[in-house]
Amino acid sequence: LGTVARGFNPDWIKPLIHQSQGAKEFAYCPYSKFRVGAALLAHDGTVFTGCNVENASYNLGLCAERTAIAKAVSGGYRSFKAIAIASDLEDQFISPCGGCRQFMREFGDHWSVYLSKPDGSYKEMTIEDLLPVSFGPEDLKKKRLFTTENGS
Ligand code: THU
Repeated sequence: LGTVARGFNPDWIKPLIHQSQGAKEFAYCPYSKFRVGAALLAHDGTVFTGCNVENASYNLGLCAERTAIAKAVSGGYRSFKAIAIASDLEDQFISPCGGCRQFMREFGDHWSVYLSKPDGSYKEMTIEDLLPVSFGPEDLKKKRLFTTENGS
């Protein structure tokens, strides 16, 4: 009790993937025409969805995962169980970009990422699998050999 056997699939996974597919419908991607949706599950069961939001100034575009995380954090949530990601790629599980991996890692490296295909099949990975040997908020608190007095 208290632990879950490896390979056991909680009953919320399929609905979470379904919500990421729903979020994908709202993707604003006139430039790439590549739709992505995300559904982020917080510890109390609340789900925050997100889609990619592109911009005429291309480099300002937001990924679906970061949109969902920013919605959650700005709503007071910082503790997450899982995020599901959906795209239209037929034969490939959608893989989060490096920036989103780091953005997810900010909130821990032991939670789950579900990389899905349009048929609802998925691959489960942890943040740690996706971003090994990562840098995170804890590192900023560690003992340093050199410190600066005024931060310059
Ligand atoms: N994109 C996401 O939203 N999430 C991913 O995991 C991969 C890439 C978006 C960014 C951009 O709007 C479009 O997909 C093409 O790169």
